[in-house]
Amino acid sequence: MVTVQKRPGGAGVRRLRNTSLQLKIVMAVTGAISVLYLVLHMIGNLKIFLGRSELDTYAEFLRTVGEPALPYSTLLWIIRVVLTVSIVLHIVSATILARRAARARPVRYAATPKTPGSYAARTMRWGGVIILLFIVYHILDLTTGTLNPNGVGGAVYDNVVSDFAPSRWYVTLFYTLAVVAVGFHLRHGIWSALQTLGHSSGARRHAQKVTSTVIAVVLTVGFLAVPFAVTFGLVA
Ligand code: HEM
Repeated sequence: MVTVQKRPGGAGVRRLRNTSLQLKIVMAVTGAISVLYLVLHMIGNLKIFLGRSELDTYAEFLRTVGEPALPYSTLLWIIRVVLTVSIVLHIVSATILARRAARARPVRYAATPKTPGSYAARTMRWGGVIILLFIVYHILDLTTGTLNPNGVGGAVYDNVVSDFAPSRWYVTLFYTLAVVAVGFHLRHGIWSALQTLGHSSGARRHAQKVTSTVIAVVLTVGFLAVPFAVTFGLVA
């Protein structure tokens, strides 16, 4: 006679494991959309080094592309909606997964395990909250102009230059801390996403680590180049 040994939980546990994988895929895909936005945003920002007219013309292009077939700002609003939906799904999935992980481990570890990357993993939640608060400030600063000393709609170059003026070094410092938080979040997030979407073993694991670090460093340096160039007088 053959006895089939049932694992505790059976179908329920399996369903939970399946939805956890689905949630991780949602996190990976929505994270990838945000990374794509950041790459395009960083490249757009770097146009400041080509001069006022290059940057402002590009910002105007983002609003007028598709006209007159499409209404003013159509592309921008599509980007805003896709990005907002992605960020909301990313946060909801992260919250559900974190709650599940906490429920599966009701007794806290006596000591936090020192596994590679565990520091980044633990800071993902707080990093995410800091990034969200930064985005709210950043939109009030450079999109609506509410908190910007210049704050003129369409005058992107002048808004950025007055924002990071040498006398406003504390704004540059704040942006630096936020962008570094973005960098750490990206490094660990991209690495996790690559593991979720692909296989992970030996050499591939190393390649995934290198890829995530390179993308995070390029984005961090690319974003910080603009506030630093303004504060140190290279762009005025
Ligand atoms: C540190 C250097 C950065 C600079 C100089 C910068 C500059 C700008 C400017 C000028 C705008 C307004 C663009 C326009 O109205 O056409 C903008 C919008 C925006 N930025 Fe940044 N940005 C930086 C970093 C970031 C980072 C790190 C993030 C995300 C984590 C981000 C997310 C956004 C978002 C979501 C918008 C709103 C786009 C919209 O709805 O129009 N930015 N940024």
